Amino acid sequence: MKLQHKKNSILREKANAYIITVFDKQSTIHKSFKEIDKKINNKITKLLKDNKLKTSVGSISEFPVSGELNADYLFVVSLGEKKQFNIDVLRTQTANVFRKIDSMKLNSVAFSLEEIMGSTNKKNEAYQAVSEGVFLSQYSFKKHKTKIVNKDTSIKDISIHVSGEKNSNLIQKMLERGKIFATSANLTKDLANEPANYMTPTKLAETALEIADSHGLDCQIINKAAAKELGMGSYLSVAAGSNQEPKFIILKYSHKSAKNKPVALIGKGITFDTGGISLKPSAGMDEMKGDMSGAATVLGVMNAIGQLKPKINVVGIAPCTENMPGGKATKPGDVVYAMDGQSIEVLNTDAEGRLVLADAISYAVKEKCSAIVDIATLTGAMMISLGSVRTGVFANNDVLFEKINKASQKSNEPIWRMPLDDAYGKMIISNVADIKNVGDREAGSITAAKFLEKFVGKTPWAHMDIAGVMTIKQSKGEWTKGMSGNPVRTLIHMICDY
Ligand code: BES
Ligand code: MG
Ligand code: ZN
Repeated sequence: MKLQHKKNSILREKANAYIITVFDKQSTIHKSFKEIDKKINNKITKLLKDNKLKTSVGSISEFPVSGELNADYLFVVSLGEKKQFNIDVLRTQTANVFRKIDSMKLNSVAFSLEEIMGSTNKKNEAYQAVSEGVFLSQYSFKKHKTKIVNKDTSIKDISIHVSGEKNSNLIQKMLERGKIFATSANLTKDLANEPANYMTPTKLAETALEIADSHGLDCQIINKAAAKELGMGSYLSVAAGSNQEPKFIILKYSHKSAKNKPVALIGKGITFDTGGISLKPSAGMDEMKGDMSGAATVLGVMNAIGQLKPKINVVGIAPCTENMPGGKATKPGDVVYAMDGQSIEVLNTDAEGRLVLADAISYAVKEKCSAIVDIATLTGAMMISLGSVRTGVFANNDVLFEKINKASQKSNEPIWRMPLDDAYGKMIISNVADIKNVGDREAGSITAAKFLEKFVGKTPWAHMDIAGVMTIKQSKGEWTKGMSGNPVRTLIHMICDY
C-alpha cells in the first residue's frame, strides 16, 4: 500500500475512489469541494439543503460518479460536529472509510484533506492520524485461511491531497511516522493472533532477532541453562511443565547521544496459559494464546523505535514460556526463589505472569535501568474492574505515570490509574516464604501489582495490566477483531516524548 502527499486537487487525480469530508450541522459544502460538486450537478449541496445527507459522526455516504468525475465513487465522510472534532475522530473515520473501500475491492484512493487542515491546529498529528487510520484498518489475520487466495487489502495506491502546503517533506514524514506506528501495532497483532502451536517462545525469540537485524538493535536470548545460571527460579518454575524451551528475550536500542541508563519495557510472554496444575476450565481457554501480548507489545514497540530513532536508550525484555501441567510441573504449595533472592510460595500455578515478571523486573533492576514499564495480560480481575475499555495502570512514580497518561491520550488507547496502598500488600504475605503468589479473591489485580512491586525496589515503575483490552470482539474503526495491539502506539509515543 503506497501512501503519498500530492499538492494537486483530487479532481486532477484519476482514482477508483475520491474521499471528501463534511461536518455535522453544516449547511453548505466546504469551498474546496464546490468544483467537485458542480461536476455532479450540485448533488451534495442539494442534499445538504434538504437535510438529506447523513452527517452525524460515523456516517459515510457513497455516490457512483463514473462519467462525471475521474473516479468510480465519491465518498463523503462525516467528521461529526466541528466543535467536537479532534484527532481521534479523524483516525477512526479514516479507518471506517478505508474499511468500506476495501470491502468494495477498489484499488486506488484520492483523499482530500483541504477541509480538515483548515479545521485543526494540530496538522502534523492529523497527517499521522490519517496514516494510522489507513494502515490499522487494513489489518487482517488470514494466514491460515487456505481457501482465500488474495489475503491482502485491495487498496494499492493512496494519495493525500492538500494544496498550499509548502513543506511537502514534513507531510510525507508524518505519513511515514503514522505508518510505522500502525504497522508496528499490526506486527504485535500478528504475533498475538498466531496460534500457540506456531507462536512458541523460540518463534518469539526468532522474531526478536529479525527485528534487531532489520533495525540495528542488539538482541540477546537467554536460554534455560543460562536462566538457571542467573538464578531465575521464579521464571523457570513456570516453564517446568512445558516441552517448549523457555526463551528470555533482551532487545537493546541505544542512541549515541543518549546518556540515560536504559528505560526497560518488560512484556509478559506466556505463549499459552493452561493454568498449569491449577488448570483453567476449558471454555475460552483458546484465548490464552494471547497471553504473550505483553511480549508482543514490547517487540512491536522496539520495531518502531528502531525506525524512529529517538534520543534515548531503551531495553525491551520479554520472559517467554508456556504454562503447562505435567510430571515436572510446579505444584501448588511449592516454594521457588527469584533472581533477587526472595522466596515465593506458589499457591496457584495459574498466577504465573507475576512469576515470570518477578525475574524480568529483578533483571532490569540489576542492570540499573532508569525506569521500568511492564505490560502484562496479568489478571482476569482487570476485566471485572475496567472491562475492555481501559488499561489499568499502577505506578510508584507520578512523573512516569503522567508520561504514560499523556501518551495514551495521543494514541486514544485509554488508561486508568489504579491504587497501590500498603494494605493490599498485606494480602500476599506467606506463611512459609517471603510472599505468596495469590491473595484472596478480593482486589485480584491490585494484589498482583503489589506482588510485582516487591521486585522493583526504588526504581520508578509502572505496570500496565492489559488483560481486559487484549482482544477486540468486533471490528470497528481502527480496531480489528482479534488481538488488539493495544497499547503499542501509546508506548511508542511515551518513548519518543520521554
Ligand atoms: N493470563 C491470565 C489472565 C487473563 C485472563 C488474561 C483472561 C487475559 C484474559 C493469568 O495468568 C491468570 O490466569 N490469572 C489468574 C490469577 C488468579 C489465579 C489469582 C486469574 O485472573 O484468574
Ligand atoms: Mg494464568
Ligand atoms: Zn497468564
